[in-house]
Amino acid sequence: MSKADLIVGIQWGDEGKGKIVDMLAQKYDMVCRSQGGHNAGHTIWVDGVRYALHLIPSGVLNKDAINIVGNGVVLSPSSIIEEMEQFDNLEGRLFISDKAHLNLPYHAQIDIAREKLKGDKAIGTTGKGIGPAYADKINRTGHRVGELLDTKKLCDSILESFEINRPIYEALKIKTPKKEELLRELEGYKEKLEPFIANTTNLVWKAIDEDKKILLEGAQGTLLDIDHGTYPYVTSSSTVSAGACTGLGINPKDIGKVIGIVKAYTTRVGHGPFPTEDFGEDGKRMADVGREVGTTTGRRRRCGWFDAVSVKYSSRLNGCDEFALMKLDVLDGFEKIKICVAYEIDGKQIDYMPSNLDRVKPIYEEIEGWDKVEGISDFDKLPEGAKRYIRRIEELTQTKVGIISTSPDRNDTIVL
Ligand code: IMP
Repeated sequence: MSKADLIVGIQWGDEGKGKIVDMLAQKYDMVCRSQGGHNAGHTIWVDGVRYALHLIPSGVLNKDAINIVGNGVVLSPSSIIEEMEQFDNLEGRLFISDKAHLNLPYHAQIDIAREKLKGDKAIGTTGKGIGPAYADKINRTGHRVGELLDTKKLCDSILESFEINRPIYEALKIKTPKKEELLRELEGYKEKLEPFIANTTNLVWKAIDEDKKILLEGAQGTLLDIDHGTYPYVTSSSTVSAGACTGLGINPKDIGKVIGIVKAYTTRVGHGPFPTEDFGEDGKRMADVGREVGTTTGRRRRCGWFDAVSVKYSSRLNGCDEFALMKLDVLDGFEKIKICVAYEIDGKQIDYMPSNLDRVKPIYEEIEGWDKVEGISDFDKLPEGAKRYIRRIEELTQTKVGIISTSPDRNDTIVL
């Protein structure tokens, strides 16, 4: 029996999971997604060809790996179908849980309409219908991927849900789909997706029993977790490692190594508190050098300094064995680098994460910067300043750094 290794985002997503998952996926027999939807996204280049992934696990680029979209995912059929078109021969290599919930076009319409109504209280969602699809699941008015196998029944069931929700949908100006159009749309999805719909729980258990190497690929980040993140400015799924258990149907004992992916500074897309955000030249420089623009929505990311308080919290929540420290090269050439070591709230200093970050101010420690780490793939060759920064992060977060990335290139990676 094998144990599954897990990759989890430690901050507000976009930590650079794509590079690590892509690097590691080559060594795994199975790669699984357990939560989120097409709000996630990363781009992978292989032999000069660009692949955009949102729902399909990164193992798809390893032709020998099996890819699982677990029950905890909210699946947009049109989005996954578009993604699938980038690859040949996916049958037998991609399986979608029959228990995953459908994220249908009206979910995105509701998402966008709600955000508009909220005005300056908007979350800044990706507009992909993620919240409304999960809300339907929890309300028990959702529809599962397995229901696509009987499109007529599913069509009637969706229309029934529209009836139940009519007052809400009318207020949001969401039109009830026409029966024939909806049926045609669902039949299109069925035709493309039927060969991939499976009981993925059984497939993952079988892989565990057969001692296969399994990688669980997290989406978004811990601070966007529905329970433990900066609520309400979060996504609607369990982004922490425990979410992988419910999102795939495995038990906690099935999880082996947990690798937390953490950026050498901090970024956030959308609204919500961000204590170490830098509104000046430094933040702008991080955004420019780090090319901090969202892959899914094209929005510019907010940037700021490394926050050791929230990272330590995330490490504990996930049970991280080690961190992969990403984009260290983006801090090249900064004279001084700040690390947030504690928060101040109502005149008091605290070193733990409160449940609300609204009134928190960062307390910084400053260290000397370094000249250049870009392209270095040997720890001993790193400048002293960079080594000191890494050691300080380890101390403050009580987590060892096992991987260091010094450029987007696969080769510019230090494995300790
Ligand atoms: P939603 O997931 O579209 O509902 O968006 C909720 C919040 O999560 C917003 O602040 C989004 O910007 C953020 N978010 C969702 N997916 C990602 C991601 O993949 N990376 C970073 N932020 C994300």
